[in-house]
Amino acid sequence: MSEVATKPAAGGPIRVLSGIQPTGNLHIGNYIGAVTQWVAMQQPDSENFYCIVDLHAITVPQDPKELRKKTREVAAILLAAGIDPKRSVLFVQSQVLAHTELAWILSCVTPYGWLARMTQFKDKSQKQREDTSAGLLTYPVLMAADILLYQASQVPVGEDQKQHLELTRDIAMRFNRMFGETFRIPEPRILDVGARIMGLDDPVKKMSKSEENPSHAVNLMDPPDVIRRKFQRATTDSLATIAFTEEQAGVFNLLTIYQSFTGQSREAIEAQFAGRGYGDLKKAVAEAVIEGLKPLQERYAVFAKDPGQLDALLKEGAAKASAVANRTIATVWERVGLGIGGG
Ligand code: AMP
Ligand code: TRP
Repeated sequence: MSEVATKPAAGGPIRVLSGIQPTGNLHIGNYIGAVTQWVAMQQPDSENFYCIVDLHAITVPQDPKELRKKTREVAAILLAAGIDPKRSVLFVQSQVLAHTELAWILSCVTPYGWLARMTQFKDKSQKQREDTSAGLLTYPVLMAADILLYQASQVPVGEDQKQHLELTRDIAMRFNRMFGETFRIPEPRILDVGARIMGLDDPVKKMSKSEENPSHAVNLMDPPDVIRRKFQRATTDSLATIAFTEEQAGVFNLLTIYQSFTGQSREAIEAQFAGRGYGDLKKAVAEAVIEGLKPLQERYAVFAKDPGQLDALLKEGAAKASAVANRTIATVWERVGLGIGGG
């Protein structure tokens, strides 16, 4: 048997992998739930891989020109947010061919029923009916491939990806049982605070990139006056008390955003707003978000100005990612009996 370079060691090095789709506009939900974790996890003892998942984006129709534009835009935002190419490998998923290759192989060991049960698939396919692509069904298998190719130990995501992570673990365990230990079993990393930021217009719905209502999400590139207006319009309630209670979904969401951006404790925040009105709360949240996004917005302008440098960086990232991914693929081929052997 060929060298098993990817055999998961008992503990092994800390490997972090996560992905984000280059569709719509990145919003503060993506930022709080995912991107801030990505930045914080860039530690000296860990190897980090972050990918812009354009292959996931095309599970629903995309305009080709717009998709490329968004891919570069998301790369620039991630760099501006603090993803450091010296400490992390930043790359575009489609530039590393092993992702599609492993996705096919994994789709052949994944029971159809596991995929049909995914809540995100059920929601999206219900909306799209006959237009639902087969890719939308196999979407979580591609996500499993993203993760397992890098033998990732930790996957920082928002709460909505928890089920996909459980599926990834199930696929990895099934493959390991069928073909021998090949993949490391990854752990999700989901924040206690901010893992599910809700829409400002409708706080029982998750903040998402695809909502039509312009007051639904605060986008990372929104200028200060737009951010103020969106928070002013945020849905609250008629209770007129400011507390972290689940019954007050709108207020709870505003307080959570405030907590994420200021880093203060719940007690301190409740004390600060005791006896004050929702108008004050909305203003304070807006100012905290404006302040928090300011450095990101300033740095974005610098990265966006130099697309040549951005492309070079992404190419370099894809080369580094491919080197790791190809080792896993070689092992998988060997285990499954693909090709004619001999490298
Ligand atoms: P996506 O926009 O679907 O590509 O998601 C990118 C990352 O952001 C994933 O880790 C999601 O779980 C996370 N995310 C998306 N929406 C939210 C939200 N409303 N609150 C917290 N995290 C989110
Ligand atoms: N499916 C994820 C989302 O929509 C994005 C994603 C793709 C991802 N591949 C991944 C997240 C691998 C974590 C790890 O948010």
